[in-house]
Amino acid sequence: MISDTNEIIEKVLIDEESLNLRIKKLASYINEHYKDEDTLIMVAILKGSVMFMAELAKYIKVDTNLEFMAVSSYESGTESSGNVKILKDLDTDITDKNVLIVEDIIDTGHTLLKLKNNLQKRDPKDIKIITLLDKPERREVEIKPDWYGFKIPNEFVVGFGLDYDQRLRNLPYIGVLKREVYEK
Ligand code: XMP
Ligand code: MG
Repeated sequence: MISDTNEIIEKVLIDEESLNLRIKKLASYINEHYKDEDTLIMVAILKGSVMFMAELAKYIKVDTNLEFMAVSSYESGTESSGNVKILKDLDTDITDKNVLIVEDIIDTGHTLLKLKNNLQKRDPKDIKIITLLDKPERREVEIKPDWYGFKIPNEFVVGFGLDYDQRLRNLPYIGVLKREVYEK
């Protein structure tokens, strides 16, 4: 049986209104930063970044292409494996283009570092990173977002694109999962 989501969420960490306000603010930084540039390719990492990309892109005023990549780093569950495999590549050439990687969360940083290195080999003009959430305590490699939405403590979060075993991505807020859910 599918359980009621309220029963598996410990607490709401970031509510819908705070997310929307912050994302509008982030969009204003992006607009300002790229206002004199000719290109901007926003690259969201599937599936976790879909909601963030959709919400952010609504407020982007500069001409942009929305692109998607799928990489795998997490198996199912909550442990990071540190390995990145490209499951779906870009549909477009990024040579001499400005690329903005749109991430849901930076945890250990392994995924993003490998992805960034991969994209760098394609000779883009520039690569920047925006992440909705940052868990700086968990970082294992040197990588920092150029913009972030919220720094969060070391807790497993779900919602607004983020999943637990492919579930809960549709929640309109960021919530903390009850420990008993993933420890059982
Ligand atoms: P790394 O460790 O490589 O991992 O920075 C980044 C990816 O791991 C996933 N991730 C999470 N997913 N709740 C989730 O639903 C979390 O608290 C969490 N922490 C890391 C996520 O897919 C991210 O892109
Ligand atoms: Mg992800």
